[in-house]
Amino acid sequence: DMGGHDTYMHKEIHEQAEAVDRVLRGRIDDRFSTVHLGGLNLDARDARAVRRVKILGCGTSYHAGQIGAQMIEELARIPADAEPASEFRYRNAVVDPDTLYIAVSQSGETYDVLAAVQELKRKGARVLGIVNVVGSAIAREADGGMYVHAGPEVCVVSTKCFTNTCVAFALLALHLGRTRDLSVRDGKRIIEGLRKLPAQISEMLEQEEDIRKLAAQYAEARSMLFIGRVRGYPVAREASLKLKEVSYIHAEAYPASELKHGPLALIEPALPTVAIVPDDDLLEKNRAAMEEIKARSGQILAVAHQEQEKADHTIVVPKNEDELDPILMGIPLQLLAYHTALALGRDIDKPRNLAKSVTVE
Ligand code: F6R
Repeated sequence: DMGGHDTYMHKEIHEQAEAVDRVLRGRIDDRFSTVHLGGLNLDARDARAVRRVKILGCGTSYHAGQIGAQMIEELARIPADAEPASEFRYRNAVVDPDTLYIAVSQSGETYDVLAAVQELKRKGARVLGIVNVVGSAIAREADGGMYVHAGPEVCVVSTKCFTNTCVAFALLALHLGRTRDLSVRDGKRIIEGLRKLPAQISEMLEQEEDIRKLAAQYAEARSMLFIGRVRGYPVAREASLKLKEVSYIHAEAYPASELKHGPLALIEPALPTVAIVPDDDLLEKNRAAMEEIKARSGQILAVAHQEQEKADHTIVVPKNEDELDPILMGIPLQLLAYHTALALGRDIDKPRNLAKSVTVE
């Protein structure tokens, strides 16, 4: 049942305010400015003993993991990074008992992720699952974890589960942070930011018609470049994947800082760039990157917290706390991918060559 929408992707994009409300529900503890995550099976002593966090997932879940790793580093000050689960399992990785491993999966059935979890457990590691489908293989195999409560996701292309997984990571980062050195004040600040998300998502979705018009323009491109730095970079990667999957337009994501080390050679009027430009301490750096692109007659669509002079168009996203900004910045880019695919007449819910859950090697 598509509830009045023409595709599941559209329906699922529009369910995000509600979905985020669900992942937050019952977990916030205002008294201690933290969150309760009962299913982690990780007591305060365990949480304090974690020396590193390694996040494993595939595709969109891997990108959510990259955002999660940054949140954990920022809020809990634990070194954290994300890696595609398939790469991890084939490179005979060093498995460290002081590392907390986190497997991320919408379906909970992705074979490469499951195999990585099994290998980790065989070597004695502690593995948490951040999973959408309740009772799925990865959820059962993990030592503990969190359900992201996005609700059923039918479209092959992941949207609401990505957003909810990012929010789940924010909760985990806050929890680990408050068990360690994150101040009450910062805890409160993040909680207030989290509470604002559902309304801000709804506000963002009201811009759909403007984004549809932009998409009609970009649908003519043969290729697109997505750039961002630090918090904006995983957002750029996810947006680039979304566009590729659903519209079949070639897209590439690059850290904005790497432009001058190669990709600037590609810039010309026929290659539009989508620039993720949060209003944080890197704003000036991002403006300089846009200037470089403009100087070579590249077209720019900025996703930012304020109108960008250097860009041809700006999609203005509501501002939240710096650490949580990536969550909202992903949403207009889902709409951009959707409307580009719609303009091109693509099979949106079932893109060619893709399956919802990849249960084979
Ligand atoms: C992207 C997409 C895929 C999945 C990937 C992992 O829109 O659908 O990249 O994200 O196959 O799937 P899960 O999260 O089910 O493990």
